[in-house]
Amino acid sequence: MQYGSFPFYRPRRMRATEVARQLIRETELSERDFIYPVFVRPGKGERREVPSMPGVFQLSVDLLAAEMKELLRLGVRAVLLFGLPEHKDECGSEAYSDEGIVQHAVRAIRAQAPDMYVITDVCMCEYTSHGHCGKLTDAGEVDNDATLEWLAAEAVSHARAGAHMVAPSDMMDGRVRHLRAALDAEGFTHVPIMSYSTKYASGFYGPFRDAAESAPSFGDRRAYQMDPANAAEGVREAALDIAEGADVVMVKPALSYLDVLHRVKSEFAFPTVAYNVSGEYAMVKAAAQNGWIDEQRVVLELLTSMKRAGADMIITYHAKDAARWLRERGRA
Ligand code: PBG
Repeated sequence: MQYGSFPFYRPRRMRATEVARQLIRETELSERDFIYPVFVRPGKGERREVPSMPGVFQLSVDLLAAEMKELLRLGVRAVLLFGLPEHKDECGSEAYSDEGIVQHAVRAIRAQAPDMYVITDVCMCEYTSHGHCGKLTDAGEVDNDATLEWLAAEAVSHARAGAHMVAPSDMMDGRVRHLRAALDAEGFTHVPIMSYSTKYASGFYGPFRDAAESAPSFGDRRAYQMDPANAAEGVREAALDIAEGADVVMVKPALSYLDVLHRVKSEFAFPTVAYNVSGEYAMVKAAAQNGWIDEQRVVLELLTSMKRAGADMIITYHAKDAARWLRERGRA
């Protein structure tokens, strides 16, 4: 393609007024793009702020209906649920129990906020006493194939409770195929799988592990999550999960991995979600609280950059604030 050059072409002409800027805008952020993560804890009337994530709360099941109403009022129509179980054990049994915390939460939301789209995180790390994402061998390594059985049971149990979509975040090989087969066998052919297909072993998950109380008690997750240095491998991981039956693929974290997000979206033209993770949120909040950045401006810029890079949807702890700001801006 041949472009005119100065003085025939002056890019500033189309930047001169807000209307002109809007006319040529390529990316439009909307509250309909957002998925809000929710941490559910045991008890009644419990609303505990996560110290490293100001504005994010662990909520007990009885407070979920009010929370969902607030989200819906803001135009946020999808949530991603994480559970903090009453008891953790070696085999994370509350993860796949129909009486588990997430199962109770799903039933409560479906009954009391029927317009909310409910996605559940499927993983073992919040439920196991050791904090790893699956079943351990005697040598203390996560046993991939044995873990698949637990994850499948967890996903089916979430679907039985009424989850619209399940989102495996464990990074075991072959789990999408396994979950798909298990869901289909139980009659849940209509429940889509959002795969955390391209998930890096990242320092940005630190605050989440406070929020979900899921830090590993020994070692780290580098034997199952991806090396931040690898992009082609991230594309390969998405290809595998699409072949196994994923309906949505993910790149996580978002900010440091927009190159990977762009590649995954361009390569497959598949629904793709960016996970704007806890550490990314914490950094913005800390800088904003110190008065070092303009929070509203920075958050909307960050979220827009994720969409521009190729995200169809964004999982973000900023969802409520961003939805409010977008509405205010729309009215202005
Ligand atoms: C569970 C899971 C994690 C996150 C989402 N699902 C933590 C981890 O893998 O250690 C992180 C989300 C965030 O940091 O916001 N495996």
